[in-house]
Amino acid sequence: MSRLVYVNGNFVPEAEAVVSVFDRGFLMADGVYEVTSVLGGKLIDFAGHCVRLARSLAELDMTNPHSDAEWLALFRQTVELNAVVDGMVYLQVTRGNPGDRDFAYPNPAVPPTVVIFTQSKPGLAQSPAAKAGWKVISVPDIRWGRRDIKTVQLLYPSMAKMVAKAAHVDDAWMVEDGMVTEGTSNNAYIVKGNRIITRHLSQDILHGITRAAVLRFAREAQMEVEERPFTIAEAQGADEAFITSASAFVTPVIEIDETPVGTGNPGPLALRLREIYLDEMQKTAI
Ligand code: PDD
Repeated sequence: MSRLVYVNGNFVPEAEAVVSVFDRGFLMADGVYEVTSVLGGKLIDFAGHCVRLARSLAELDMTNPHSDAEWLALFRQTVELNAVVDGMVYLQVTRGNPGDRDFAYPNPAVPPTVVIFTQSKPGLAQSPAAKAGWKVISVPDIRWGRRDIKTVQLLYPSMAKMVAKAAHVDDAWMVEDGMVTEGTSNNAYIVKGNRIITRHLSQDILHGITRAAVLRFAREAQMEVEERPFTIAEAQGADEAFITSASAFVTPVIEIDETPVGTGNPGPLALRLREIYLDEMQKTAI
């Protein structure tokens, strides 16, 4: 079934969903995005994604074209028109089409380009990968220095994903100055006893919306949380490891650079956090 895609105020069949070749998103990767999960036709942690969208836009001196209420209406309409039960809503906002190529931002600003589309993933919350756990390899983190802004410049994470695929594993953990930053499109964690260790927030990593919720639920469940960097060697020697993202929720990591983590099976704490996360977030889905 052809999707209906939102482009600058209109829902159009996906074949007609086009933007200009002069769009700064296309020429300069000058745009930001959000991926929000849909479970049972409802949006997971919509408010969190709205807050981060506003922050990403502000960091790039772009005006937020819509209020949170307007975004919610657009997201809901996109989900309904495409009859999505489980899946994702992808939103991209770029600095728009100045009509030519120029490094300087257009002044005065031109209207932003707004695109919203859905990806249907029936049974998203029951993904087999979550039961089996992911194997990961490490790669150097050579991305730019503002990874806290959710921009569409995803070439290096794509390259890292291809390195992982070539190694027949599920993902790559990026390492800078000997310390793990994050996965290609997720935040990284290790577990020692009852303690969850994950890198602290800074400009070095994306401030995951799932991360914020999971750490809150972990603390509520009397798990200890330590926010600091860790090495691949420490992760390989941990009891458990896992990742979080809006699309993978909490997914155990069972192997790092060919070394099994803990028993080499998904860890009990990661599985429990996944269950808590999915339960709690579905209660508050809108
Ligand atoms: N990726 N780190 C990076 C580099 C990411 O790209 C993502 C999300 C995360 C997790 O953030 P959140 O919990 O808010 O999804 C961390 C999305 C899912 C993507 O690009 O598809």
